[in-house]
Amino acid sequence: MSLTVVDNPITNHYLTILRSNQSNAETFRSAARRVSLSLVHEAAKGLVEETVEVETPLEGTTGTKIAQGIVAVPVLRSGLGMIDAVLALLPDVSVGYVGVARDEITIKPEEYYVKLPDMAGKKVLVLEPMLATGGSLSYAIQMIKNRGGADITAICVIAAPVGVDRVQREHPDVDLVIASIDRDLNDHYYIRPGLGDMGDRLFGTV
Ligand code: URA
Repeated sequence: MSLTVVDNPITNHYLTILRSNQSNAETFRSAARRVSLSLVHEAAKGLVEETVEVETPLEGTTGTKIAQGIVAVPVLRSGLGMIDAVLALLPDVSVGYVGVARDEITIKPEEYYVKLPDMAGKKVLVLEPMLATGGSLSYAIQMIKNRGGADITAICVIAAPVGVDRVQREHPDVDLVIASIDRDLNDHYYIRPGLGDMGDRLFGTV
């Protein structure tokens, strides 16, 4: 439906820390959370709101509150690096999990874990920090749709053009919010310039 590349100095500052091979796991996790906060703010733009009355210390006025249930679905395992940001901004969110691994021979995505709450009528935020070929994200979105998710926004830190094209082609109804669209993929399907392996850098498994 829409593609938004978030471009502001705070997001770009922490994205640079994520890219740096000098950032240790703690610095990396903290930067991942901060970039994710920017992305979640952007992804929240379409949420349904309702008008409410509120009393300030001076007088009554109107405000708004979020009037739509929200489900966050981190794609395991690197999507876990974004979940803190979602919980900080949207504490009432339900969290589901999708585990999709790439078969290294066929390069096709295979699911190894799925736990999804009721998603009917809710905004589903899919957290997939590295959108490379698009295979895993497209597969995860299809699993979410098969279980009733319909209003879906995918949030990615870095994407490759080929991955964006694939998700837009296979799921034209899904909104994409991304901090950067990088140049291309290398022979091992890593995004260039990218930031390396997100899961390894988050969890110190290099
Ligand atoms: N997954 C990663 O962690 N990094 C990439 O560059 C691509 C996929």
